[in-house]
Amino acid sequence: MAQDTLTVTDNRTGKVYVIPIRYGTYPEYGASISAMDLRQIKVSENDFGLLSFDPGLTNTETTASAITFIDGERGILRYRGYPIEQLAEKSTFLEVAYLLIHGKLPTFAEFTDWTNKIVQNMLIHESIKKFLDGFHSNAHAMGVFVGTLGAKSTFYPAAKNVLDPKQRMRETINIIASVPTIAAYTYRHSCGLPYVYPDPSLSYIYNFLSMLFRMQPGKEEIYHNPVIERALDVLFILHADHEQNCSTTTMRTVGSALSDPYSAISAAAGALYGQLHGGANQEALEMLSQIGTKENIPAFIERVKNHETRLMGFGHRVYKNYDPRAKIIKKMADQVLEVTGPDPLIDVARELECIALSDEYFIKRKLYPNVDFYSGIIYKALGFPVDMFPVLFALARTAGWLSHWLELMGNEDERKIVRPRQQYVGEDVREYVPMDDRT
Ligand code: ACO
Repeated sequence: MAQDTLTVTDNRTGKVYVIPIRYGTYPEYGASISAMDLRQIKVSENDFGLLSFDPGLTNTETTASAITFIDGERGILRYRGYPIEQLAEKSTFLEVAYLLIHGKLPTFAEFTDWTNKIVQNMLIHESIKKFLDGFHSNAHAMGVFVGTLGAKSTFYPAAKNVLDPKQRMRETINIIASVPTIAAYTYRHSCGLPYVYPDPSLSYIYNFLSMLFRMQPGKEEIYHNPVIERALDVLFILHADHEQNCSTTTMRTVGSALSDPYSAISAAAGALYGQLHGGANQEALEMLSQIGTKENIPAFIERVKNHETRLMGFGHRVYKNYDPRAKIIKKMADQVLEVTGPDPLIDVARELECIALSDEYFIKRKLYPNVDFYSGIIYKALGFPVDMFPVLFALARTAGWLSHWLELMGNEDERKIVRPRQQYVGEDVREYVPMDDRT
């Protein structure tokens, strides 16, 4: 009879170990063993025990989570069980943020209360504006965003009470409410424009557009357009969470030390800044601009295949079929460009995708467009400078980061400070040599 165990023979000692196999709620979604069960495998009493080696944590579960489900082989993404396609079609970002944080869709009364709390907390402390002013006007927007989030920790000392669930929820609302304001002020600062206060009578997204583009010649039409408002709402829904990615793992790691959520989220945003993560949308657009015209695509593809460069916005650690978010964004790019006017880069992107998807190099490695391939084109059409792209991603991902932080903090059994092991490969013990005796 089949048993849910793994039998391991240590050929060094001949000993046999029986290790339990763990399943989550859905056995069909995979199984794992507890890494600590390897520790009993020893060659002698003094041996520390066997560890598993996994740089990049490519095959390691670090938590059980009820937030987001991804099946990378089949291109499936669900938040709290709801398919991303349905949420992108029918929901709003604030409703999705509620869903991620609370685990259920809100009733009308719950949603009204949630929305009111968020829009009424969008104002940021006046001193934060002075802090923002200290950044150079050409500072990278993501650097400003990361720094300002971290600085906010000093304005809310009570946020350190991370073991108090009520305090956690207060800070969660405060952070979701303030990130659009920080993002918009980051943008206004870089343009040398006066800051626009949030208006509690406006929706979350419209507030953001208003804080960005009001009193800016040429941008009025953009922020008054319902297609644009909806496009941004959908982009935020698509970016809101993606289970244990690099920045979310950072959020959980810093959170595990019981740091306040501002410090943790600033660290998470720092991880997202990287060009292999949230910085890829900027890189993808810059790559498309460099390619410039369809004629230059074959030469560029050759460089990629020679490993001289990467096709940015392509490939994913988890999706090995297609990224379901990319499909939705591709369609939306067309709708946005109908409002803002044509952009030749969309033709370059389409052709590049077409050529790459029929090329053996990309087929063999299961490389498909990811969420960042077309999002940059939309952000550019909306008039954002490229360094704002990762900030927009971070703004939306804040809801996901916080839901994971709340899940971690609410789970006393799993809330252990993250402290991985290493395999030491440096020098063995040696005697200190005084400086005069060194050659
Ligand atoms: N262009 C060209 N080749 C690629 C690409 C790419 N975008 N991505 C992977 N490859 C190749 C690698 O060169 C490697 O080839 P090799 O076996 O000949 O050496 C193979 O595919 C496997 O690559 P890995 O780096 O091992 O794959 P991994 O799963 O670790 O990387 C990642 C995933 C980082 C996303 C990668 O695909 C990449 O660099 N993509 C471009 C950056 C990007 O778009 N990032 C955004 C990801 S989505 C997000 O964070 C929101």
